[in-house]
This record gives sequence, C-alpha cells and structure tokens, in this order.
Amino acid sequence: MPSGFVESPFLAATYPSIAITIQKGFIMYKINSNYTKLPGNYLFSTIAKKVSAYKEANPEVDLIRLGIGDVTQPLVPAVIDALHHSVDEMGCAETFHGYAPDLGYAFLRDRLVERVYQPLHAEVSSDEIFISDGAKSDSGNIQELFSVDNTIAVTDPVYPVYIDSNVMGGRCGSFDPSSGKWSDVIYMPCTRENGFVPAFPERTPDVIYLCNPNNPTGTTLNVNQLQDWVDYANRNGCIIIYDAAYEAYITEKDVPHSIYECTGARSCAIEIRSFSKNAGFTGVRLGYTLVPKDIVQDGVSLHDLWARRHGTKFNGAPYIVQRAGEAVYSDEGQRQVREQVAYYMRNAHTIKDSLLDMGYEVYGGVNAPYIWWKTPEDMTSWDFFDYLLTKAHVVGTPGAGFGPSGEGYFRLTAFGSYEDTVSALDRIRRM
Ligand code: MLT
Repeated sequence: MPSGFVESPFLAATYPSIAITIQKGFIMYKINSNYTKLPGNYLFSTIAKKVSAYKEANPEVDLIRLGIGDVTQPLVPAVIDALHHSVDEMGCAETFHGYAPDLGYAFLRDRLVERVYQPLHAEVSSDEIFISDGAKSDSGNIQELFSVDNTIAVTDPVYPVYIDSNVMGGRCGSFDPSSGKWSDVIYMPCTRENGFVPAFPERTPDVIYLCNPNNPTGTTLNVNQLQDWVDYANRNGCIIIYDAAYEAYITEKDVPHSIYECTGARSCAIEIRSFSKNAGFTGVRLGYTLVPKDIVQDGVSLHDLWARRHGTKFNGAPYIVQRAGEAVYSDEGQRQVREQVAYYMRNAHTIKDSLLDMGYEVYGGVNAPYIWWKTPEDMTSWDFFDYLLTKAHVVGTPGAGFGPSGEGYFRLTAFGSYEDTVSALDRIRRM
C-alpha cells in the first residue's frame, strides 16, 4: 500500500471483493444511520416484489389485486372538467399561474372550510389549512416538528408510515425482530378482544397517532371514544396526529368525520386529510393538514412551525390540481364522488357478506373500504398471503406487515372493480 494510504473498514465490508484504500486523514461523510435501522422495504414495495416474482414465474396466471389501497375508478367528470379548464388557463399569459401561495390557494382552503368543516360545526379557519401533495407526505413529515426525545404511541396494527418516518427521525430506538416492535414506541393493540378500540397506554406518550376510520382494520372509534382521547391528550399534554383519510366512507352516524367535532380538539390535535380515497386522486396527488392556531407549546405555535417548514421545503401542489380539488367540493363534484364512494362500499359489503357467508371471521367494511379478515386455522398472515396468491390468485395484504397485533389477520381492499371483487370471492369460495 502506498504510504499515506490506509484500508477503509467500511468500504472493505461493503465491497469485500475489491481492495480499496483511502487517503490517510480523509474524512468520509456520514449517513443518517436511522435509515439503516429500518427492516426490509416499505410494506407495499415488499408485496409488489413478491407479486411480480410470482407473476414472472407464472405468466399465464390472471391475478386479482386487492392489496394496496389504490383506487381503480376514473376521476369524476367535474374533476376532469376543472383539470381541462385549468390546463387551458396555464397556456395563456393572462391566466397562467406560477408558484402557488405557501398555504395553498385561498379558493381551495375557503371551500374546504365551507363544505367540509362548517357542516360539522367544527371551528376551523382557512388559514389553518395547509394544502399539500397528499396525506402520505404529510403524515411522514409531521414528525419533524417534534423533538427527537418525544415518545410516539401508535395503534397496533398501524399504517407503516407513522412508525417508519419516526424511525428515520431517530425517535423509535431499536427494532426487535422477534417481537416485531421498536424499543421506544408505545404500541396500543387493537384486536377483536378489545373491539379494535385502543386502551390508554400505561406510559404517557408525547405524540399519539390515530387513524379513524382505521387503516388497516377498517374499524372506527365513535365520537365518544374519540372525545375520550382528546380529553386524555389535553390532560396529559400530548398531541394527536389524526389521520382522517377515509372519512368519506363513514356510514354510521356516531362516527366522527373530523376530530374537531370533539370539544377541546383545537388545542391538541392536528388533522390530516387526503383527496386520494374520497375522489380517486392517488395518481394526481392532493391532501391537506390542518394545524389549529390554538396548539402552543413552550410559547411556540405549531402552526407557525409547520408554516415555516411548508414554506421552506414545499413549493405547493400544482394550480391545476388545486382547481381539481376545488371541483371535488362543488355540488356536482360532491354528487359524483359520493357515487364513486358508494361503488367501492358496494365492494366492501360484497366482500364482507361473502366471507361471512363462507364462515370466516371478518371486521371492518362498514365505515371503511378495508376488510380485516381473521386468517383461518391460525395461519400466519404471510402464509395466508402465499396461500391466497397461489390457490386463488388473489393478492391481499398480510396483517403482520402493519405491526405485531396484525399477525393472524389479513387485509382486503374494496378499491378493485366490482367485477374483479366478485371474481376474487368466487375463487376464494372454490379454493
Ligand atoms: C394502503 O394500502 O394502506 C394505502 O394505499 C397506503 C396509502 O394510502 O399510502
């Protein structure tokens, strides 16, 4: 080795077949090692890889995909009209739009207040709404507002983004593969034994994630149960991150559409909303986060912090997409998207009723587009994934992918076409 050069243990471990030397005194950059703690891939990427390997080995098989909660029905005409119109505006100097305002266009934020929150008698102002490119980004990014030594609590099973983004932020400790748990995360099991209602944890968390109606279980907290959580948060100085992405699927009167229907929520809750599930925007991208100005900690307003972050890291959802979002909340748009939600809910009822009829145990599917299926004969959820894939050629999502209490369960989505949903159930009946 030439003088002045040394072996790098890191490079030697990474590239064992090549002899690599680096200059003495050379300082290598360091990565955010929190990322290396994440086990495997994001859940839906792992499933996609498994499914494409199966498809490659069995090209003749016609798979029905009821796994990831991605919509299949086209955008409604009111949205398409708004898109066409705003695309034309962008082609004309007088009506062209560049960067959007930091919070999003007032035409959309005002309409959301008028059409979403006023009917619920929820006290919300339009400058508390931050338009974004979707609820997934917001639910992953919101953790940046909180100190690294905060403890998060999640319902278990849980939408993986809440935990994974906190792992990236260095807030979860270490992962124990045998329990499937992170050392510093508080898990609140939601199983058939407790009716899928999380109990207050023994240790008080700082940040509590609630998704209602719930992904993945499809179950709900009613307004009294949610009020208990709001009271708990206010009593204990916690903040609730409330993910209401599936609110359009609520059919029962006592299930809240917004956390701001609860008294006191303005001082402890941030609400995240999506246009993906209520209006089919999964490929268009639009969502928003509502941070009430009443949330103040140590004299600092969380609204101001999120505004600072939004202004620094985000340049706004496209004008044409915000116009499309506005159209979702026009009279015509609402009539059309409600029909679409009803279409998916017909699938949900078909799945639930058929599985019950076959003697299976199933939950969800009443106020949500997800059906939470107890795996038969105590099969593990990944074994059941393989079983369903190979015997019925139906793709679902193994419950264990959502957390340890998801083991023994399996999620089916109602977002397929009606025809595919019916065929999937025929195949399941025959397997
Ligand atoms: C899911 O399948 O859980 C959802 O599609 C995920 C998401 O909305 O990001």
